Amino acid sequence: MPARDTQETPPRFTEPFRDELTQLLRWRRDVRRFKPDPVPAEVIGELLDLACLAPSVGNSQPWRFVAVESAEARTAIRENFEAANAEALEGYQGEQAERYAGLKLSGLDMAPVQLAVFCDEQTLQGHGLGSRTMPETLRYSAILAVHTLWLTARTRGIGVGWVSILDPEQATNDLGVPENWSLVAYLCIGWPEEEHEDPELVRHGWQDRTADCRKLERR
Ligand SMILES: Cc1cc2nc3c(=O)[nH]c(=O)nc-3n(C[C@H](O)[C@H](O)[C@H](O)COP(=O)(O)O)c2cc1C
Repeated sequence: MPARDTQETPPRFTEPFRDELTQLLRWRRDVRRFKPDPVPAEVIGELLDLACLAPSVGNSQPWRFVAVESAEARTAIRENFEAANAEALEGYQGEQAERYAGLKLSGLDMAPVQLAVFCDEQTLQGHGLGSRTMPETLRYSAILAVHTLWLTARTRGIGVGWVSILDPEQATNDLGVPENWSLVAYLCIGWPEEEHEDPELVRHGWQDRTADCRKLERR
């Protein structure tokens, strides 16, 4: 069903669907190791359509997608990442620095599809509802589109890796987007080389999952 179709009868989600959704959430991974095989443009189009179903403050839909395709633009992002990563490494010492240096922190070398996701900070859509008091909710909305895309990609066997080790202003300039757009995510997208249920950073001893992450405080 194309993303824009509407249907009259609300769906009733089944137990098997809920089980599969749980599997999807458990197996969604941040992917940094990609096969070189291309992802058909229509599949990416479909992912973008579905990402646009994400909730947004005031229905503002402030997400803006930029396909980073040219060798020039990709080189600029790679150089940006390398500089930012070297600077980040300087912030660690000793064993932790060694461990950081050994991590693969982006799939920029191989990902066949690269998408920069921006937030239009001055969109008129939504007439400021909700974002007058909390302007950051525009960015939160763009992030929800990213998450929707991430999950939807996984249902098609496609991996997504989020790269934030970037100087956002440099990336914004290099990609030549309007001044009122702010970078919220740089995504590497493609067919994963491997699939795991545990995060790569857990496997490589950087950071375990928090045991009690569902802790609920009450007031
Ligand atoms: C906002 C955000 C920024 C991230 N930036 C990076 C990044 O620059 N490099 C990287 O390797 N992973 C990055 N990640 C991926 C996280 O490291 C990853 O989600 C986390 O280790 C948990 O792994 P999982 O996504 O496979 O569950 C980012 C994730 C988020 C949500």
